[in-house]
Amino acid sequence: MRIPQEIIEEIKYRCDIVDVVSSYVTLKRAGSNMNGLCPFHSEKSPSFTVFPGERNFYCFGCGAGGDVITFVMKAENLDYRGALEFLAKRAGITIPQNDERDDGIKKNRILDMNRDAAKYFHGMLNTQAGSPGMEYLLSRGLSMATIKHFGLGYAPNDFGATVSYLKGKGYTDEEMKVGFLCGISQKSGRPYDYFRNRVMFPIIDVTGNVIAFGGRVLDDSKPKYLNTSDTPAFKKSRNLFALNFAKKSCAEQMILCEGYMDVIALHAAGFTNAVATLGTAITPEQARIMKRYTKSVIISYDSDAAGQNAADKAFKLLGEVGLETRILRMDGAKDPDEYIKKFGALKFKSVLEGAGSRMDFKYNAIISKYDLTLDDDKIKAAGELAEVLAGVYSEVERDIYIRNVAAKLDIPAERLRMDVDRIMRRNKRVEKKNESTAAMRAAEGWGDRINTDFIKNPRAARAEESILGMLQLRPELIRTACGGEVLKEDDFFTEFGKRAFRVISANIESGAAPDNFAEHFNIDESGRLITMKINRSQLTENGEGVYCECVAALRDAGKQKTMNIEDILSKKRRTTNE
Ligand code: GTP
Ligand code: MN
Repeated sequence: MRIPQEIIEEIKYRCDIVDVVSSYVTLKRAGSNMNGLCPFHSEKSPSFTVFPGERNFYCFGCGAGGDVITFVMKAENLDYRGALEFLAKRAGITIPQNDERDDGIKKNRILDMNRDAAKYFHGMLNTQAGSPGMEYLLSRGLSMATIKHFGLGYAPNDFGATVSYLKGKGYTDEEMKVGFLCGISQKSGRPYDYFRNRVMFPIIDVTGNVIAFGGRVLDDSKPKYLNTSDTPAFKKSRNLFALNFAKKSCAEQMILCEGYMDVIALHAAGFTNAVATLGTAITPEQARIMKRYTKSVIISYDSDAAGQNAADKAFKLLGEVGLETRILRMDGAKDPDEYIKKFGALKFKSVLEGAGSRMDFKYNAIISKYDLTLDDDKIKAAGELAEVLAGVYSEVERDIYIRNVAAKLDIPAERLRMDVDRIMRRNKRVEKKNESTAAMRAAEGWGDRINTDFIKNPRAARAEESILGMLQLRPELIRTACGGEVLKEDDFFTEFGKRAFRVISANIESGAAPDNFAEHFNIDESGRLITMKINRSQLTENGEGVYCECVAALRDAGKQKTMNIEDILSKKRRTTNE
């Protein structure tokens, strides 16, 4: 269901953009605006700007921009709805939910029920009936702090305890059944507890909802784990255990484990970037989610044959989504949990590092293609490696790698260094050339990735930008009849302009802020739209007169024959020949 417009405006009103951005970026006052280092690209001097009055942000470095919703979508890797839920929670606003599925059970009811159940399971640990659970967790070496951090619990050894607790909280049999907290007896048709005599691992999504549970037996009986199947509130294949914690520290690297216990042991030992799949092999969806959160993954599966086999499959899948991936090999322990218990966190850290730096991995991949006993192969390998080395930015690092690689190839480091230097000089020349072409093209509107039609009619496109900027500043202008007619989508020339006009006018129509772009535009597109507003707001005159001038210019320019790329290229060729 769509979130009502009033609620969205209320969320935006209560989640002040300066407050929200400040939890991610250190902002300093600069006139009436605030400045800081852009969280979306790396930079040394602050070009990220928050406009408190306009309730927008814009980065003059990378072009990202938008409102508080767009910011949170990007910063927390959430979709539009997720970002609204995140902000609503922050502001203590309840979003009305009518997310009914065919089975009629509302997602939100299940989430509420799960939360109640999680509290119940956790509370059980401190009761007489729950002592087996507590003893088990402690026997696995978990501290009270870790048990609390992960909200671990215990489902009592009883067929009706959880069901009657949840009933008391107002949940129906149907809701418990759909949410996998009870089964229905075939004989009596009565509900019974699904999880019994198990330690409980709540699965929490990135917005903090309890979406499912894993429950482990206390002994060697089977099945070892019971997991919640898919429900209206949960899809196994799209979630990862502990990503809610890991998302804060996994930007550079994520550790992927097989088991809940591995992840918990790793977090407790300080490796808070560990996640696990939920009792299944990793899915392509999970791989894509990981790609959103991190640059590289270390697969840290069980050391037995089954684990290593699964690791090879995961390696392939993660590679396919473009993640840099390494497989950790542990000796002397069957899984990371056991490894840390036996050898300690420091030793695990060195194994992690020993898994080879990213560079080592690249070098080994190249070297393994060649037979270094053959001179020809050795030369080819050296050439390919020199290319990679030339891309290492830091001089110190490059020096270390050059010496390493030279040793591996058994060639003098100086020779390799000369090759690398030569390639670097060549790269620099190419880069310079590209830069000047890029600058030239940018000036002409070439290579405009956001408004790809810009170049076809720059005059019309510039008029559009003025108009779209003014409409954000003075929404009432949309009703102005210029030349006897109000502006229409058809007056716009570029697809991007048409789309922007559609969204802005729908916003104005519904009484929303004209610059509510988050639902329909990505952060670069909304950044572009924000610049149109900034550009106009720096001019003093933004009245009807100027508006109609721009509209007239657009209508006029729109009538001209548009150039296709062939025309543009041939015109360019002619001018360069002259
Ligand atoms: P411990 O044996 O307690 O250390 O658990 P673990 O987390 O190391 O689990 P293990 O390596 O045996 O299995 C890895 C993961 O596979 C578990 O965390 C579960 O998610 C899943 N899994 C294991 N056994 C079962 C099972 O019997 N059924 C289901 N559905 N999943 C299981
Ligand atoms: Mn284990």
